[in-house]
Amino acid sequence: KKTIRDIDVKGKKVFCRVDFNVPLDGTTVTDDTRIRAALPTINYLIENGAKVILASHLGRPTAENKESLRMNPVAKRLGELLGKTVAKTDDVVGPEVEAAVAKLNEGDVLLLENVRFEKGEKKNDPELAKAFASLADVYVNDAFGSAHRAHASTEGITHYLPAVAGFLMEKELRVLAASLDNPQHPFTAIIGGAKVTDKIGVIENLLDKVDTLIVGGGLSYTFIKAQGHNIGNSLLDAEKIDMAKKFMETAKAKGVNFLIPVDATIADEFSESANKKTVDTDSIPDGWMGLDIGPKTVALYADAIKKSKLVVWNGPMGVFEMDAYAKGTEAVAKALAEAPDATTIIGGGDSAAAVEKFHLADKMSHISTGGGASLELMEGKVLPGVAALNDAE
Ligand code: 3PG
Repeated sequence: KKTIRDIDVKGKKVFCRVDFNVPLDGTTVTDDTRIRAALPTINYLIENGAKVILASHLGRPTAENKESLRMNPVAKRLGELLGKTVAKTDDVVGPEVEAAVAKLNEGDVLLLENVRFEKGEKKNDPELAKAFASLADVYVNDAFGSAHRAHASTEGITHYLPAVAGFLMEKELRVLAASLDNPQHPFTAIIGGAKVTDKIGVIENLLDKVDTLIVGGGLSYTFIKAQGHNIGNSLLDAEKIDMAKKFMETAKAKGVNFLIPVDATIADEFSESANKKTVDTDSIPDGWMGLDIGPKTVALYADAIKKSKLVVWNGPMGVFEMDAYAKGTEAVAKALAEAPDATTIIGGGDSAAAVEKFHLADKMSHISTGGGASLELMEGKVLPGVAALNDAE
């Protein structure tokens, strides 16, 4: 793909789509990782004399929550990080925005209002895409986290302007897509999270690539059930038991080492203060539910991770938001941090949050800024926001 290095931005109006969909506490940005991740592109545009127009969505606006999803806190935080004024409009398109763009000098930065305030954004309405395009000379997409969405500001606009990737987009694709296309072996994938349904595509795709596939978290109890064990009140995707069986058979046929939890921390209710104990997963009593992987499982998983050259991780091993059930996720994060020879890639979302929580972020090779987007890449899907960009010669 072409990147901003391949084009001349001096004096040009650049419409740059970023993913500033960050968590807020009222009017404060509580995690600015995604804003910081876009700084290399924004600073490059500033230093090279572009007139920078930034656009992002924030949350999922409805009539009720709309006022709490304005971009003002984001503009403030971005201004602090850049050490310069960031102008912000209260509209997404229209006369106010056109006037603000007309005022931009080389190196100035303008942030538009939440693009999802316009109905046409999610519908990928060509009229909105044209209105975005009419503001600028060039389009830059640095919003990897939104690249799986074919929306007006991620896909539609590329039909009307030269469209290139920013540095974050480039890096995410280089690390994630390239590792999956041409993995180093032994390659271990760790798939956790609550629901089997959400991870079917990933498991299917990765079974053709990995040497070891590890499952943990809520979804692993469907696999334990599929092995014929009682799982008490643990999470179960009853319709997916056959699918889980099929996955284990396919893994066997392909020579993939398929690891599922051999022990678990179980509790008699879903709370921190529940009664807890550790049992083997073939003896979970009625009335109890598994909420974390146990120590034998941790040892098994850590050993596979230690021997790997590439580890990709998506989804926690237990209810890590509660300290009582965070040990398994923390131990897996530590095993990745200490893996002697491995490139370690963390899919966004919960696994990225877990790595942050355990202060191990700087020990990983790459932490993706995209949860849904990295998941779709791991499923082998083409991301519409990427496919729409111009190819390099
Ligand atoms: C994300 O946080 O995964 C992206 O910003 C996309 O947000 P969405 O799921 O609301 O489209």
